[in-house]
Amino acid sequence: MKKYSDEEHLSFDDILLIPQRSNVASRKDVSLRSTIGTGTKRSIGLNLPLIAAPMDTVCEWEMAAAMRKAGGLGIIHRYLPIEQQVEQVKLAAASSRVVGGSVGTKGTFLTDASLLVEAGAALILVDTANGHNDYAVNAVKHLRNAFGRDLHIMAGNVSTWDGYARLADAGADSVRVGIGGGSACTTRVVSGHGMPTLASIMDIRANFKYGDGPDIIADGGIRNSGDAAKALAAGANAVMVGRMLAGTKESPGEIVDGQKVFRGMASAEAQADGLKSVSGVEGIATTVPFIGSVSDVLADFEAGLKSALSYTGAEDLLDFHSLSVYNRVSSNSLNETKPHAKE
Ligand code: XMP
Repeated sequence: MKKYSDEEHLSFDDILLIPQRSNVASRKDVSLRSTIGTGTKRSIGLNLPLIAAPMDTVCEWEMAAAMRKAGGLGIIHRYLPIEQQVEQVKLAAASSRVVGGSVGTKGTFLTDASLLVEAGAALILVDTANGHNDYAVNAVKHLRNAFGRDLHIMAGNVSTWDGYARLADAGADSVRVGIGGGSACTTRVVSGHGMPTLASIMDIRANFKYGDGPDIIADGGIRNSGDAAKALAAGANAVMVGRMLAGTKESPGEIVDGQKVFRGMASAEAQADGLKSVSGVEGIATTVPFIGSVSDVLADFEAGLKSALSYTGAEDLLDFHSLSVYNRVSSNSLNETKPHAKE
């Protein structure tokens, strides 16, 4: 077994951003605008750099429409018969115009992508657990060949610059980065593989500067605007979340006893509902408290991120990436970081 590098692989809780001299007078002076697919005619502008994960307890059309309304984006999950995915994309596109669809890497993925694009999807995500696999790379190549330069292709997930570079060469416009960090994920426990999402972004940005190569979507383990700030400071162009949105009115599923179901797409429960035989379980199913409308969650998130930029003295995300400074913190700092007035 070889060692990957001497760099420490840091998780969100291992670091804090350090306040910098700031002349940002008000959070209103801060822009959170971002773009994915930068520099191409298939670029998608975001006023809020937040994307709803394509999970069956997170993103169908209501979530996608609400995300777009707030300046973010939703990607419809692929765990429905294709006719229903098409319907979901149509409903979201009718009320928000910009929505993403997702496909797998095998079988009917090319025709599925055509149907989703016809229905109005502005982006197709090649949604796989392991974007380091040749299947994922080849799926991106096939999609790029079939759709030419017009389609925004997002691909993933990868954890290193090497995986990122392969998806970039295959033609991806944006890359989902993070393996094993998802809140409903057991990949690291089951397979012993993974890398902290923050460390993966740092690994890629050490080799590909902001603006070089596909834009980075940080995915997995982002719990709040503070984690998102660290991911964006490290060089992500947007962040993707599942758990953070799962308890809202706009996520699919009923409210039972004040709770909603949230589950990993590789959980036994999600696989069984997807009419597949259950194998290779790498996720859990749980319930999360119902927390009301997603617009409140997004408003808090936006305020938190704007606060982050103002502490660093950054007016926009590009500034934030170049000006931000972090340090490692001790494990004691985590106790101090969390509210402890009640202790
Ligand atoms: P959060 O932490 O925001 O993460 O809930 C969302 C991301 O988790 C990934 N995901 C999974 N990963 N097994 C995994 O290993 C699973 O069953 C699973 N389901 C979702 C996915 O990348 C998502 O965007």
